[in-house]
Amino acid sequence: MRRIAIVTDDPGWHGARLKRAFAARGFESAYVSLTGCSIELEHAESPIDIPGFDAALPDGVFVRGVPGGSLEQVTFYLDILHGLKLLGIPVYNDARSIERTVDKGMTSFLLKLAGIATPPTWVTGDPDHARAIVRRELEHGHQVVSKPLFGSQGEGLRRFESPADLEQLESGNGVFYLQRFVPTGSEPHDWRVFVINGKTVAAMRRCGLTWLNNVAQGARCEPVRLDDLLLCRLAEDAVKTVGMAYAGVDIIRDLQGRYAVIEVNSVPAWKGLQTVSEVVIADLLADDFLSLCTATTSSEAAAR
Ligand SMILES: Nc1ncnc2c1ncn2[C@@H]1O[C@H](COP(=O)(O)OP(=O)(O)OP(=O)(O)O)[C@@H](O)[C@H]1O
Ligand SMILES: [Mg+2]
Repeated sequence: MRRIAIVTDDPGWHGARLKRAFAARGFESAYVSLTGCSIELEHAESPIDIPGFDAALPDGVFVRGVPGGSLEQVTFYLDILHGLKLLGIPVYNDARSIERTVDKGMTSFLLKLAGIATPPTWVTGDPDHARAIVRRELEHGHQVVSKPLFGSQGEGLRRFESPADLEQLESGNGVFYLQRFVPTGSEPHDWRVFVINGKTVAAMRRCGLTWLNNVAQGARCEPVRLDDLLLCRLAEDAVKTVGMAYAGVDIIRDLQGRYAVIEVNSVPAWKGLQTVSEVVIADLLADDFLSLCTATTSSEAAAR
């Protein structure tokens, strides 16, 4: 039987859904923690050891989480994913696209460079410069959001509504990521658009309890039809820009009706989205991923 590694330290609902989808398609899968993998160069055939794979390499690697740690540890975990791809094994999403988007500063930079609408954003290590940016934005009538560079699920975000809030301006590990706040009206909301292999497969409107519209922060999920081409194309263009096989794109719309991408997630959750979607997202992911794993040559997989 062919074998898939699901890279995760916390399989949970998503891991179980993927495992079931793979099994239904004739693939056995195992949860793998990158903390247990090692580089073993004396093994010419499989110079990367993955626990549970008996010195053999998997047919594909589905990444559901890269653990945190020291800079050295995280670099090493990404080395494992880079190495597996170099060995011709499909890694989904691959280390390069994860690197680009775990770092919100690089995501914003790449989106802007590609001409994709995204709110004005600043990244700086200088506290005085950061304060000056927030002060200037406030003077011009804009509020500002600060985010941890590697944050997720709405944790650690702050909103600066007046100069008095400046006292709360703190860097996340020495770096300030600041973004112009996009007002969405008296009922805050944004969109999560799920893209697989370049196509939008599901989307929802997220209505937050506060201005944070993350499902993890209690936002309500509302179904949306996929006939809003502006929304879908913007999400698809964003995913193409960061080179991902699949992604969850966060999109916000200002009071003038203009959409902007605020984030592209390389390891997106889809539990909330699944509750308002007709398609079975784990099945679509499994089909797309396994089509890469069964591709006849490794170069075909690496070229995607
Ligand atoms: N510039 C902004 N203007 C208005 N609201 C924002 C802005 N940036 C973020 N938000 C709100 O905060 C939420 C979380 O922001 P963002 O998606 O950037 O980080 P995150 O969700 O913590 O990271 P991840 O998506 O990787 O889990 C958004 O869904 C949105 O509701
Ligand atoms: Mg988000």
